[in-house]
Amino acid sequence: MTAVVQVLDVVQEYPGVRALKGVSLDLAPGQVLGLVGENGAGKSTLIRILGGIEQPVSGRLVVRGEDRTFRGSAESQAAGISVVSQEFRLVPQLSVADNVFLGHESTRAGVVDAAGTRARTAELLDQLGLDLDPDRPVSSLTVGDRQMVEIARALSREFDVLIMDEPTAALNGAEILRLHAIVRRIAEQGKAVVYVSHHLDEIFEICHDVAVLRDGSLVAHAPTADLDEARLVEHMLGRAPQTYERGAVTEHAGEERLTVRGLRVPGVAEPFDLSVRAGEIVGLAGLVGSGRAELTRALFGDLPATSGEVRVDGRAVRLRSSREAVRHGIFMLSEDRKGEGILPHLDVTENAMVSRDRSGLGLLRRLLPVPADESAQFERLRTDMRIRVPHGRQLIGNLSGGNQQKVLLGRALLSGCAVLLLNEPTRGVDVGAKVDIYQLVKQLAEAGVAVVVSSSDAPELAAITDRCAVYFAGRQVAELHGRDVTEDNIVSASVGQTVQEGSDV
Ligand SMILES: Nc1ncnc2c1ncn2[C@@H]1O[C@H](COP(=O)(O)OP(=O)(O)OP(=O)(O)O)[C@@H](O)[C@H]1O
Ligand SMILES: [Mg+2]
Repeated sequence: MTAVVQVLDVVQEYPGVRALKGVSLDLAPGQVLGLVGENGAGKSTLIRILGGIEQPVSGRLVVRGEDRTFRGSAESQAAGISVVSQEFRLVPQLSVADNVFLGHESTRAGVVDAAGTRARTAELLDQLGLDLDPDRPVSSLTVGDRQMVEIARALSREFDVLIMDEPTAALNGAEILRLHAIVRRIAEQGKAVVYVSHHLDEIFEICHDVAVLRDGSLVAHAPTADLDEARLVEHMLGRAPQTYERGAVTEHAGEERLTVRGLRVPGVAEPFDLSVRAGEIVGLAGLVGSGRAELTRALFGDLPATSGEVRVDGRAVRLRSSREAVRHGIFMLSEDRKGEGILPHLDVTENAMVSRDRSGLGLLRRLLPVPADESAQFERLRTDMRIRVPHGRQLIGNLSGGNQQKVLLGRALLSGCAVLLLNEPTRGVDVGAKVDIYQLVKQLAEAGVAVVVSSSDAPELAAITDRCAVYFAGRQVAELHGRDVTEDNIVSASVGQTVQEGSDV
């Protein structure tokens, strides 16, 4: 089997960073290659080079036996390489159909064929199992749907090589299964696929081979059948993985910090009740359509509730905007990192400090003796969360996706809030760093914060929450406590099955 693309000894450097240190890799027709590695290992850098977004400092790209230099993404696409990049490149003001065919519109007699574009988009969306109006502006879509539109866009071109950089980070279970089926079919058609994911079960599910990058070097490349998850993680981290010790379930929680009574939220059938005490970590679980997303947004003032009551530390508050929520001591880590999270023109220190509690009682300070000075504070975050960045003045946009997520979590830690809402807190974070983040969340709770974790990751909820409310079709269908908060119980309740509760009382 001859390779359709050969990467030979590719080196890439940025100021202060050697992102790729001489990587060689073959992409073979009909083969799904998993590409894994810690946050900042160099995966997206390699993909940007293959996609023509960047040129390497040295090394060669050989496509069908011929040396190539791509000066821009159009040249890479013309060579048959189609990329779903990690950071969305959609134009929010344009419709779904216009985004899918942007740059390669179908034309009729020299005129853009709007009807044809719409019809072909509808066909692609249908393949992806997505019930979406091609005329809708992308700005009105959820993060998951935007991800699907990115995928539809990559599939709409002619290609021999399909490269997907964390395509499932924002997708739900059913969407992930459909995408896997499509990936398999594409490989069966004799195309080469490169698939990046931090969900290692996906790698074992659909990849024939796996390549591991660590700190810019290829450290392993083997058939997935020859590896198991523990071995793969060891290659990624260069050490045995730590396990997260959940410890005892919080039983001596303090005062009630967040109280929600009868909150009516548009799109959710039943009014919502929730109470979270100081020191508690409470989970919200539920699939798409369960109402979980709406409730999470309502708590942050992002989706105004129509009636009901919210109290923070006993004080009634009205949440009409996220700014108001922050003022009342509720802080949220958004799931939309690029849209609502990062401030791309500011450096990492400024990004972490922007919501800092100016009274100097930031959460971090309560946990540890934190230096007053901003750059020293950032250094602290950098060490504790293993943020891979050369210095605190680096623009956040230059960080790898997972490292951006860690900076945003750092922002939440410094916010000094009473209630912390974490929406998909470890999306895009590597397996090693997840453990660090869980530990920090636990420390925050121990320091007296009321923590709410809204997540589609059942193992995550099982690992870190003391209590977990599960939603299905707009209703709370289970409240799991202590040892009953297991992955199995969360998954069963999420699909509407009855869960045996109370075995630990
Ligand atoms: N434009 C840039 N300027 C400076 N450094 C950069 C730039 N782009 C990437 N880097 C650095 O290069 C390294 C590799 O980043 P890359 O995005 O390839 O990581 P990754 O493996 O995709 O990680 P993740 O899993 O978090 O997405 C990181 O240290 C990152 O900060
Ligand atoms: Mg990346």
